[in-house]
Amino acid sequence: MIFVANWKMQMPYHDAIAFYTQHSSDLQELSAHTNSTLVLCPSFICLAPLAALAKNSPIKIGAQHCSTYSAGPYTGQVDALSLAQAGCSYSLVGHSETRNMTHETSTDLIGQITQLAANNIIPIICIGETESEHQADTGLEALTAQLEGLKSILAQQLSIPYMIAYEPVWAIGTGITPCAADLNDIRAYIRNTIRRLKFCTPQALLYGGSVNPTTIKILASANCFDGYLIGSASLDFQTLKKIVSWATRVV
Ligand code: PGA
Repeated sequence: MIFVANWKMQMPYHDAIAFYTQHSSDLQELSAHTNSTLVLCPSFICLAPLAALAKNSPIKIGAQHCSTYSAGPYTGQVDALSLAQAGCSYSLVGHSETRNMTHETSTDLIGQITQLAANNIIPIICIGETESEHQADTGLEALTAQLEGLKSILAQQLSIPYMIAYEPVWAIGTGITPCAADLNDIRAYIRNTIRRLKFCTPQALLYGGSVNPTTIKILASANCFDGYLIGSASLDFQTLKKIVSWATRVV
């Protein structure tokens, strides 16, 4: 399984380095013991030092975002080549928080995926319905629209694998998650939509949104995802370990 720790802007520079140095062997042991890939996504400034520390280990480093452009006058943006040079092997794309803050369109996301693929970085593409779409029972239409927006890039053979992370926006940071039956239905719906749109097959389908040691028991019982995208519960190693151990049934 794959577990992606999205530290957002919740782990300052010194804490991120300390987390890794303190838990380097724990992380490696956890990864080996559970046969899992662990990806840490710290803020941009922590990427290079963490990747240097994790070099020659099974722990992978991922970015939380990447520019749509390869280079140019884009103040505040970080290009995919720099991410690759810093040692990133994954990047989130279209997380709901970045979609909201930067008003990203499908065209922007296609640009990001293109840049990441050109630099051998695996995109983890986030999709999910909002609270109001969930309430209005239009969640599946929202997911379809988000996937359809990426048809021009995902319906062709990419030079790298990609992953889809289903993250209902109403579940992020709320402690609430969909029930196992709904997760099964949504996973099937996403798989069918991907097939209908003739996308190349994603390497993994992840779930994200309030994954913690309690909710993982319900989430894992659905047994339908290849891994999890974990926000606040990934900031503490023991909490992360509980999630990984439960999800992989090494308890
Ligand atoms: P959460 O965040 O686990 O804190 O809900 C998940 C995410 O936003 O990726």
